[in-house]
Amino acid sequence: MILAPSILAADLGHLADAAAAIQRGGAGLVHVDVMDGRFVPNISLGPVVVKALRRATTLPIDVHLMVESAEPYLDTFVDAGAASVSVHVEAVVHLQRALAQLKARGVRTGVALNPSTPIAALEEILPELDFVLVMSVNPGFAGQEFLPGVLEKIRRLRRALDERGLAAQIQVDGGVHLGNIRSVVQAGAGVIVAGAAAFSQGDPEAACRALVEAAGG
Ligand code: DX5
Ligand code: ZN
Repeated sequence: MILAPSILAADLGHLADAAAAIQRGGAGLVHVDVMDGRFVPNISLGPVVVKALRRATTLPIDVHLMVESAEPYLDTFVDAGAASVSVHVEAVVHLQRALAQLKARGVRTGVALNPSTPIAALEEILPELDFVLVMSVNPGFAGQEFLPGVLEKIRRLRRALDERGLAAQIQVDGGVHLGNIRSVVQAGAGVIVAGAAAFSQGDPEAACRALVEAAGG
């Protein structure tokens, strides 16, 4: 299991310290939630923060674009230092072209699914993905409750990938914490995003260590 703490929940006034703490705590990625105030009812941060984070940590940066029509910004985030980028199937009309553009830049490419978006929406594109980002909350904010029905969706997606012999990873994002992380991993998640569970307990290093432990390592 790879832990990807989301800096949306971090103390952004001490971003470098937060990145160092999660790295000491065993995080394998740092998740950056980009919100445009259109696709989701919140505005967060942009490429300049990715650039600052790139200077502050050696952790690979995983950029989650909750952005309407994100195509014009893909190269900017890659240039800023993104190692992986996910776009929402609900927000990008020419999805295959957007993913091809990212692949051409050599970054890991993923597609995010909102809780009510069926896996079937990825039917044609699944073979091209490095990962699927399964949202277990409605995107826009950290600190929300995990939607329990998503567990079955993760299992179905894992079965669909295995049946087609596809190696795409499943990344789960939203409301994951000490009490549910093991069941999320057992359902088939290889990457776990954690915002509040990593940063809202006061000691991100200890919180990450506990999450890795609770996940079964
Ligand atoms: C929500 C974001 C998530 C969120 C995770 O739109 O995509 O990455 O920040 O935070 P928690 O783990 O607190 O739900
Ligand atoms: Zn996210």
